[in-house]
Amino acid sequence: MQFQVVSGKAASTPSDCAVIGAYEGGTLAASARELDRRLNGRIAALHGRGDFGGKLGDTLLLTDLGEGLPVRIVLAGLGAKAAFGRRALRRALAPALAAVTRTGARSASLDIAGEPIRGFDAYARGRLVAELAELALYRIPDLKTAPKPMPPALATIVLPMPDAKSARAAELGVEHGAAIALGIRQTRDLANLPANICTPAYLANTARGLAKRHRKLQVTVHGRRQIEKLRMGAFLAVTRGSDEPPQLIVIEYRGAAAGAAPIVLVGKGITFDSGGISLKDPGGMDEMKFDMSGAASVLGTMAAVAQLALPLNIVCVVPTCENMPDGRAVKPGDIVKTMSGQTVEILNTDAEGRLILCDALHFARRFKPATVLDVATLTGACVIALGPHLSGVFTPDDRLAAELLAAGTRADDGAWRMPLTEDYAEPLKSNFADFANVGGREGGASVAAAYLAKFTQNLNWAHLDIAGTAYLGGAQKSSTGRPIGLLVDFLLARAQR
Ligand code: BES
Ligand code: MN
Ligand code: ZN
Repeated sequence: MQFQVVSGKAASTPSDCAVIGAYEGGTLAASARELDRRLNGRIAALHGRGDFGGKLGDTLLLTDLGEGLPVRIVLAGLGAKAAFGRRALRRALAPALAAVTRTGARSASLDIAGEPIRGFDAYARGRLVAELAELALYRIPDLKTAPKPMPPALATIVLPMPDAKSARAAELGVEHGAAIALGIRQTRDLANLPANICTPAYLANTARGLAKRHRKLQVTVHGRRQIEKLRMGAFLAVTRGSDEPPQLIVIEYRGAAAGAAPIVLVGKGITFDSGGISLKDPGGMDEMKFDMSGAASVLGTMAAVAQLALPLNIVCVVPTCENMPDGRAVKPGDIVKTMSGQTVEILNTDAEGRLILCDALHFARRFKPATVLDVATLTGACVIALGPHLSGVFTPDDRLAAELLAAGTRADDGAWRMPLTEDYAEPLKSNFADFANVGGREGGASVAAAYLAKFTQNLNWAHLDIAGTAYLGGAQKSSTGRPIGLLVDFLLARAQR
């Protein structure tokens, strides 16, 4: 996708399609008024005739408008004027762009993106437009054998800005938004793949491919032998029941001075979570192919970081394997020694994410990190607590929590801080090992975080539980690409401080 940020009058920008807006009640958006004048009030008249109510997310395509006018207009509903803001613009723009891609338009002018919103600057507008425009073209790479429909013709987005200064700011936003979209697309592509294709080896190859495209990325993949050498007893316990070899993927991105302490991103890479011997119910078990969404999101983040050439050092650590039942599989009651030396009684083999993460988090210490973030579809309890809207943030560090929540807000990729106090480690008591890998059901998301906290003492660490946000179920089953927006925004902010 090409982006042209232009300064000057919106409606005079030539394109195959002008995207303009109208509020509920018939008020036209500022950007729509000039076109309406040139059309002798034909747009304003639509409301009176009952043809367009301006409901948020509605769209209407107008064509054959006459000489000197855009070939098409997509009219986007902006909802109630009093409630209009950045989030509403996002919810209006996505379907409007989808409507454009269903036409033959090769270019579209997003006049609607200039609608006045308090506190929403040119940079943020550019970023929102670029992210949404790139994602409007996203198609799930399915394995359907029927012929594919024609791909959208849309190749150029014109973004009108009032003056040269705001145009420059918007251009930077476009650059960042396009990188975020790239990360989201890669994450979705990976997470949407079935587990028989997206295996641990496939993830390792994806990381290698990424490093081939970017000079500043360096990949190391540790196989079973090395994982044994590292004494990652918890990780090895999870992989026991599977025929797919486990992989520990490490990607190093060097964008800052060699001595600058890196940020380490750890992603849960369970390519299929059957539950193991503590087998899951069959209903919806296919969705456990998404249990590598944390891994996919840290890999996507590395792609975005490399494209942006951020002046940071970042290390990505992905422990990846399957969780399967088998004659050799780990059993409830088995006790293992983690890389940290602490012993764990595995009371439930379905609490496998924390087992691979605890070894990966301990491994992260060797990079002497400034901050460690782990990203994981860790608990059903987090889905119950927060639903599909917000990711859970768990950290003992108030400043890091605030940093992550602010990044989520700026990126429209929200998160909510969840409690993590000593109390939540209480249920993990074991008679036979240092602790168990599960407690009861109550407060399950925080108990899981308290388990991880036993391996991150003296680190500046936060855990993101994305079990509810990483993918949609039901009829819209697919990866969302979250929390790429949050992660990239967090890193952009770190790069500026
Ligand atoms: N991958 C699941 C968590 C999950 C559940 C993600 C639902 C997305 C949707 C994780 O490995 C798991 O099975 N967790 C258990 C932990 C329990 C045994 C303490 C859970 O949440 O039920
Ligand atoms: Mn599980
Ligand atoms: Zn899992």
